[in-house]
Formats: sequence, structure tokens, C-alpha cells
Amino acid sequence: MGKRILTGIQPSGILHIGNYFGAMKASIELQNQNPGDTYLFIADLHSLTVNPKPDDLRMRVRRLALDYLACGLDPEKTAFFRQSDIRGVCELTWILNTITGLGLLERAHSYKDKIAKGFVPNNGLFSYPVLMAADILLYKSNAVPVGKDQKQHLEITRDIAIRFNQMYGDVFVIPEPIISESVAVIPGTDGQKMSKSYNNTIELFGEEKAIRKKIMSIPTDSTPLEAPKDPDKCNIFTLFKLFSDEGKIAALAAKYRAGNFGYGHAKQALFEAYMDYFAPMRRRREELEKEPGYIDEVLRKGAEKANAVAAVTMEEVCRAVGLR
Ligand code: ADP
Ligand code: TRP
Repeated sequence: MGKRILTGIQPSGILHIGNYFGAMKASIELQNQNPGDTYLFIADLHSLTVNPKPDDLRMRVRRLALDYLACGLDPEKTAFFRQSDIRGVCELTWILNTITGLGLLERAHSYKDKIAKGFVPNNGLFSYPVLMAADILLYKSNAVPVGKDQKQHLEITRDIAIRFNQMYGDVFVIPEPIISESVAVIPGTDGQKMSKSYNNTIELFGEEKAIRKKIMSIPTDSTPLEAPKDPDKCNIFTLFKLFSDEGKIAALAAKYRAGNFGYGHAKQALFEAYMDYFAPMRRRREELEKEPGYIDEVLRKGAEKANAVAAVTMEEVCRAVGLR
């Protein structure tokens, strides 16, 4: 039997190319590693911990689903669903809460970071890792690909699962995190890490004009047009590489080094490479936008599949703890 792979994504904002190359692309490609037993969900219950406006949350969930489908997520291979559509996830969270030590949660970096940023800590924020443990354990997931920032949450999940199994018998699979150390940090237009918090993003599905403007406004140094330039010291070149094959990369590098090639030219090349790369996904997105019922149908079917797996686990859990 193959490994069951599961991961979750928070609907936290408009996706940018840092999200795409840093996380989304790999999470879509999981579907080819283990087709039929891969689960990807939109963690809307987790998003509630920061109390978003209801309409914003709804809009972000739909947009995230649309963007993933446009980028090639195949719902026949990966069960794609909304966390809140799964019966059992909140019930399991409660049961896990009753065996989770406070100390384990007090040590969580994500909680400490949120408080440091001035969030008023609600109980949901504090027990965020318990909900995440429920997400993972409910489907008896073997492998959970996550970013480095989620590593501690996976450790907490494993601790909770081990404790439960010790107290009530072997119900849960102890999941293995898959943390890709090799993922490069994508720079934003200002050269620091691209992030929605830094106002330096290039949107994944921005309007063509706005994308062009964003790229044209990338700050550069004052090397004159005629002077040869070192591509490896240029942020525009770093971004260009994301969208291009070896041949195109070598050709652009040669132009930088030859001189008489200005940053304006480089930006134009970057803009064209971006548009070429995302053209098929933009077309697919436009088609999907015309059929709003399609997203609902995909999420409904995904939830149906996930609910079937979850129901079996919940039966075992409830029996084990004495609720049946
Ligand atoms: P943001 O920093 O814009 O708030 P998130 O924290 O919501 O982005 O990131 C969602 C996912 O995208 C995470 O897995 C994160 O590792 C990845 N990601 C975000 N920005 C980048 C980046 N600049 N380079 C690589 N990966 C990124
Ligand atoms: N906390 C994760 C993040 O912010 C999202 C998430 C929720 C998740 N539940 C999960 C990831 C379960 C993996 C498995 O990125």
C-alpha cells in the first residue's frame, strides 16, 4: 500500500509567485506521487483564529480553490476539500484537547509569534496545533508535506498521536513530516523575501497591466545602460530564472554581460517570461470562472471522499475513549 499524503493550506490572502514556486507547485505535483490517495484541503477553520470578515473568508476560500484548479490541481487524483465540510474534525479536536498538555501548546512558536505581533490571543489561536493534529490524524495520513514554519506543529501532532495510542490503544498512524529544505526563497520586488506583509509581491493571477506596472517598478541601481552588468547580482534576473529554461537564461545572462542592455530591457524580458509561463493557467482560470458551479462540485466530491475516511477513524476513536 502506498503512503497516504495530506496537506492543508490556509486561505490567507491573494496568492503571489512566492507562494506558487515556494509551496503551491509542489503541493499540486503530489497528485502524481500517489494518485488516488492524496488529500489537499483548505484550512478555513484555522483561518477563523484571526477573525476574518465573513465575506472575505468566503471569497478567499473560493479564490484559493479557483487558483489551485487553474494551476493544474486534478481533483480526480487529489481529493480537494474544505476543512469545515468534514464532520468529525471538530469532534476529534475536542477529544485530542483533553489529552494535550498545556505546556506542549505554550511552547508553540506560531502562538508566541502571533502574540508578539499584537494579536489578542483567543483560545482558538492557542489550540491551533490541536486542530491541525486532528486534520492529520483523522485520515491516518502517513506523510505530511509542509514548509519549515510548520515543523513544530507536526512534532506536536506526533506527540499527541503517541500519547493517545498509549492511553487508548493503537488507533492513530504516527505521521512523518516532509520538509523540503531545498525550496528557494523567492525574492520580492525589493529583493527581500516576497511576502504579502511586505508589499513587494508579484501576484500569481494579477491583471496584466498591474503586473506590468509592478515589474517595471522594480528598483535597480544606477549602472548606465552601456555598462556590462552582472546578472547574478540582479533581482530581475533571479525572478526571470523562475520562468525560463536553460537556453533562455543563458541568452539573457549574455545580454547583461555584453552591455548596452538596460534594466528596462531586462524588466520587459521578465514581464514576457511571466506572461508566457502563466498563459495556459490564466486561460484555464478564465474558463473556470465562467462555471462557478464547478468549484462547488469539486469541493463537494472531495469532502465526500474525505468524510468517508474520517467516519471510519471517528468510530474507532469514539469506541476507544468510551463514547460508544
Ligand atoms: P506570505 O509570506 O505572503 O504571508 P504565507 O506565509 O501565506 O505567505 O505562505 C504560504 C506558503 O507559501 C508557505 O508554505 C510559504 O513557505 C510559501 N512562501 C511564501 N512566500 C514565499 C517566498 N517568498 N519564497 C518561497 N516560498 C514562499
Ligand atoms: N497550519 C498550516 C499552515 O498555516 C495549514 C494546515 C492546517 C495544515 N492543517 C494542516 C498543513 C494539516 C498540513 C496538515 O500552513
